[in-house]
This record gives sequence, structure tokens and C-alpha cells, in this order.
Amino acid sequence: MSGNGQVASLGNPLFAAGTAVEPAALTILDTTLRDGEQSPGVALSADDKLAIARQLARLRVDVIEAGFPFSSPGDHAAVRAIAEQIDGPIIAGLSRCFPADVRQCADALAPAARARIHVFIGTSPIHRDSQLRMSQAEVLERVVSMTALAKTFRDDVEFSPMDASRTEPEYLADIVAGCIDAGATTVNLPDTVGYATPDEWRGLIEWLQARVPSLATVTLSVHCHNDLGLAVANSLASVRAGARQVETCVNGIGERAGNAALEEVAMATRLHPEVFGVATQLDHSQLYRTSRLVSQLTGMVVQPNKAVVGANAFAHHSGIHQDGILKDRRTFEIMEAAEVGAGSTLVLGKLSGRHALRNRLEQLGYALDEEELKRAFVRFKELADRKRDVTDRDLEAVVADERRTGDERYRLEHLQVSCGTQLRPTATVRMLLPDGLSHEAAAIGDGPVDAAYRAIQSLCQVDGELEEFAVQAVTGGIDAIGEVSVRLHHDGARAAGHGADTDIIVAAARAYVHALNRMADGLASGDRPTPETAGSAAASGR
Ligand code: KIV
Ligand code: ZN
Repeated sequence: MSGNGQVASLGNPLFAAGTAVEPAALTILDTTLRDGEQSPGVALSADDKLAIARQLARLRVDVIEAGFPFSSPGDHAAVRAIAEQIDGPIIAGLSRCFPADVRQCADALAPAARARIHVFIGTSPIHRDSQLRMSQAEVLERVVSMTALAKTFRDDVEFSPMDASRTEPEYLADIVAGCIDAGATTVNLPDTVGYATPDEWRGLIEWLQARVPSLATVTLSVHCHNDLGLAVANSLASVRAGARQVETCVNGIGERAGNAALEEVAMATRLHPEVFGVATQLDHSQLYRTSRLVSQLTGMVVQPNKAVVGANAFAHHSGIHQDGILKDRRTFEIMEAAEVGAGSTLVLGKLSGRHALRNRLEQLGYALDEEELKRAFVRFKELADRKRDVTDRDLEAVVADERRTGDERYRLEHLQVSCGTQLRPTATVRMLLPDGLSHEAAAIGDGPVDAAYRAIQSLCQVDGELEEFAVQAVTGGIDAIGEVSVRLHHDGARAAGHGADTDIIVAAARAYVHALNRMADGLASGDRPTPETAGSAAASGR
């Protein structure tokens, strides 16, 4: 086989000849910007969303689910900006089964040449009775009327019966038939709570196809959550049952335990055409870069042992493995790092100029304006003074950090900490505050980070208790950049913050200031409605 369906060179030699049958096209709908953004603590700015959307287009996903326009004016604006500026993929927006939602969604998508309205409603007994307080007939009526309404705006309409895996099969069949009659062109079956297991899920899909003949006239899709760690397995089982669209998130992020990981679905289908009989149109060499960008902008750290894109995914530790790899990579590798774009990284140094920096950042998926580039260049020079080789991962860390702090209301200008075996840790900070002036404060703490946090807190008019604190080295070596992620909570709202620096105390202070800014800007999770918190509005019968 050739092209996108090519069998990877390091795969099982028994299958290396490929399959005789031409693979069917598998559509990838990526919902990182919608379901992924529902990950606890994640709140992306409009610029972040555009940067991710651009990279998803480079990766050649078929559909970008850009957001849920009715949920907030910010989401509406972000979906519209993506619809205006991103060429290539279909741009989708999510909508509940209310006329106002459908209209907002259509409005946000208006500039897109190719757009999809994705309508959903909970169909399981627990959703109908406890959340929506609607009967089976009322839900079915809403499905039909709202799909038909969506159809008046766009030809491309997707319908999802939320919590399909816990919906009575016969009723699910009625819903599926009803939405197809009303004009849905894609029927998406969500395992919303990640409850399904592969065989049972495959059985349900096969049963539905037999029970609803019209399902063969539309694209059958699945959307699997990872509560039992089965999201990818369930998605792949669905493909075997005939699903021709899979919904994914980069790095498997998403509500609770997340969604099916895009990179895992991509590589499993690529390496096993003989099993799945499908091919995507993805450019697999963009997978690693996409993963890094999403991790940087969401602040969701990728675990080192994460399949396909984790730091250890291509690392060989044991002597026997290293020996085997040197002799023939296929002994212990089923894919090459370069195949997913995780191979070599370009190294910049002290003498690299602004032009080289801009070029490299653009290749990494960051389109910076002049002001952002100026700030990134200053950070890059500071870094190059402290660190001989500045790698792609270092660059990503500082650029993401600069973007995060770009127009913050509280800005850290200076931090000095003294600590040691005989000293009480003391921190002095200078911060630019919303009054436009620089203010200083000092504090003593249990440790240097505690002292810095107390000093910062004394200057910021926002509360937030530290609930989580994690440190990670971006690259190896004594001069490595450290990334700190924190989570604060106050009055039921949670905000995450991230910071990067070669000095870990500075990184910790940046992360704390970032989270306080998010709290202050109302970007904490818990403030925004999500599909799963949409019940109260539904109950009011709006
Ligand atoms: O998990 C889910 O059911 C969803 C739907 C809105 C598709 O995200
Ligand atoms: Zn979901």
C-alpha cells in the first residue's frame, strides 16, 4: 500500500506487504477545542484556540469542532474567528436542542466555507428523568425539530444522542432514525460517561445498523470517553463495526478522564490497515508537534509514558533493548519517532537572530504578532545566555509562557528569594498592578515557594487556595527549563496556572500569578456552562 494507508516500515514484518483491499476513508473530528477545553482547569484564550486550530489544519484533521457558541460570548467569538481564518477542515460548532442555541451556532459558523452544526441532547433514562425532566416522546420531538432547524442553516448536520451507551437500544434506534429523517448527515454515538466495553459497544453499533437501515446512508461516528481507560479501544472496535468517523482529542484530554486520544487512533489505524480497513488523511508527521502545542497552551502535562507522543515513547533504557535497536530498530520499535515528527529538533543558540526564531516558531505552530515576537525574543536571548543549546521544547515552553502572561492584569516584574540551611526563606516581589504602577512586597514562608506565594498574594486582590502543585523538567540537564503547574480553588471555582523558567522558583511564581489572573478574569472552570451542565437550562424549557 502507499500514501496515507502505508504500512509503517517498522511494523510487524508479517504484515509488511500490506493488504490487498483499498481502505475506506476514516474521518477524524477533533474536539480538542470543545470537549478538550472542558478538561478541569483548562481555559484557552481566543489566540490559543486559533493557534491550535491552525495546527489541526496542518495535521489535516477532517473536522475541527471549534467550540460551543451559545455557552459564552468568548466561545462564540472564538468559533467565528476560526470559521473566518482556518482553511481546509470543516469547522463544526456544538449546539443543544434549543432554537436559540442552533441559531447562535449557525451565526458563529457563518463565515466558514464548509461548516457543520452538531446538535445533541441526552437520551438515556438518567438524563431524561433526572436532568432534562422530559419524556421519551418529548426528547424525540426535540431531536427531530432541532435537527430540522439546523438543516435550514447548513447541509452538514451532525446529531448526537448523549449517553447513547446507557440509552434503551430500541429508543436509541427511534432517535437515530428520527434524526436521519430530519436531515442529519452524521450520526454520532457518544459513550459519554466512558462506561462501554469494546465487545458490547461493537455489538450495539452492529445491532443499530441492522435495526435502522437508513444508518447506511449517513456517516456513522463515535465519541468515546476514557473513564475506564477504554476510549481508544472502544473507538477502534467501532471502526471494526463500520463507524467511519471517530471523535478525538489531542493527548486524550477532555471532560473528566478525557476522550479518545487522536494520536493513538491515528497510529493504530495507520499501522493496522489489515485489521481496521481504513485510512485517515492525516499528516502523521505533525502529531508530535500538535501534542506539544496543545500541552503547552492548555498546560496539561503529557505523561512521559503516553503512547505515541510521551517523552519515553521512543526511549530505550535496558541494555538488551538498546543493543537490539542498534542492530535493527524493528526489534523493539513498531514506529519511528520521525514518523510522528518526534525525531530531531533544531537547536538555536546565542547567535541566532529574530528571523531564525520567527521561522522556527512558525514551523512549531506559533504565529506571533510583532509585539509577541519582541517579547519572545527577549526571553529567548535570556535563555540562550543561560543555556548553550535552545531546543524546540525550550522554545515552546518560553513562548507559551510569554503568551500566557501577555496581557495579564497582575504581572510579575521581579522576584528575589533568599533561603538556605540557616535562613528563614524570604521573598521580595515587584508586580505591575491594574492601577498601572509597580508595587513591592516581601514575605517570609515555610520554603522559598511559600514565601514567594505569600508576597504575591499580598499584592493581588484575588483569593485562591493552592490545591495542586507539580514540577516537570522540559529538557534534560542541569540547565533544563522547569515547568510548574498549579491549581487554585476558591468558592467552588478552580483555575490552573503554568509557568516555565530555568529557575524553578521563578517558574513557580509565574504559574501562581497566571492562576490568580485566571481567577480574576473569571476563566476558572466552573464558571462556564458545558454540555454536561446544560441541564438546568433544559429543565427550564427554554
Ligand atoms: O460526551 C458527549 O456526549 C459529548 C456530546 C456533546 C457529543 O461531548
Ligand atoms: Zn464528550
